[in-house]
Amino acid sequence: MLKQNVLKKLEEGKGTPISGASLADDFEVSRTAIWKCINVLKEEGYPIETFGKKGYILSKASDILSKSGIEANLKNNIPINVYDSVTSTNTVAADLALKGFTNFTAVIANEQTKGKGRLGRSFYSPSAKGIYMSLIIKPTFDISKSTLITTAASVAVANSIHEVTGLDPKIKWVNDIFLDGKKVCGILTEAISDFETGTISHIILGIGINCHQSDFPDDIKDIAGYLGGNFDRNVLTAKILDNLLDQLSDLDSKNFIDEYKKRSLVLDQEIVVYKSGIKENSYGVNATAIDITNSGGLVVRYHNGQKDVLTSGEISISIA
Ligand code: BTN
Repeated sequence: MLKQNVLKKLEEGKGTPISGASLADDFEVSRTAIWKCINVLKEEGYPIETFGKKGYILSKASDILSKSGIEANLKNNIPINVYDSVTSTNTVAADLALKGFTNFTAVIANEQTKGKGRLGRSFYSPSAKGIYMSLIIKPTFDISKSTLITTAASVAVANSIHEVTGLDPKIKWVNDIFLDGKKVCGILTEAISDFETGTISHIILGIGINCHQSDFPDDIKDIAGYLGGNFDRNVLTAKILDNLLDQLSDLDSKNFIDEYKKRSLVLDQEIVVYKSGIKENSYGVNATAIDITNSGGLVVRYHNGQKDVLTSGEISISIA
């Protein structure tokens, strides 16, 4: 616990020195105990330098995902569980949800060995090259609004990326985040049903972002992109969680729909609609994307003039 607390202080003051004496005072331990903690953190790979009497400084370039690092940057007080490696944060979050973990518990990992994508695909999740996170949501709203969760989440993620990195991501309907024409983030929402009541007990919102990674496997190397540059994954994770909580607690206002439209990659574009949802298994129909409804549906006009509102689920699109 002392180690986590010391790390949190260093993360809060990242790039500025903190004296061993003040850390010892804060946590009511000896300076030797602090020194031991610092050595353990260094052994774990944290770039901490010692500046004589001025104390310890965590390098600004440090980018190790940790509970302390996320909490140091998080405004909301929600339970955060950070793992080095898991099969899938959605799977872990679903297990925790069934064990009674509270609404808005977050599960975050540095690596996934069985990352899940939409439509039964996998999600490439190498160590230290991404942010893989899931949030347990206990719906307190009408379940028909649950499709809005992914719409709100894509706005929260895109805005957070912009706020932290200065980049200007776009959203490809329904909920893929693109940068320079390549997908940098995918979102997978899964429902857990309660068989006795026939209702949805939890929604697991999973978000995967490629960071600092240009070496993708052959099957995705032409479509996958990543967030490069200097930023701290802890800061981005915290920003996404804070923005998500804001959006999710105000789902009814639908304020995010305007933002969604502004960031849309497809509005006014020629697209191809795949009715089965799976591009490889169905023929596509050409259309123009003309609007987004207040429920997050995509309004399209086919080339015969007929209009349609696409809802997520079994429909996917590509840009013509
Ligand atoms: C997609 O683009 O197909 C959705 C990808 C969703 C990936 C995230 S990573 C965190 C969470 N855990 C998973 O196994 N999947 C989601």
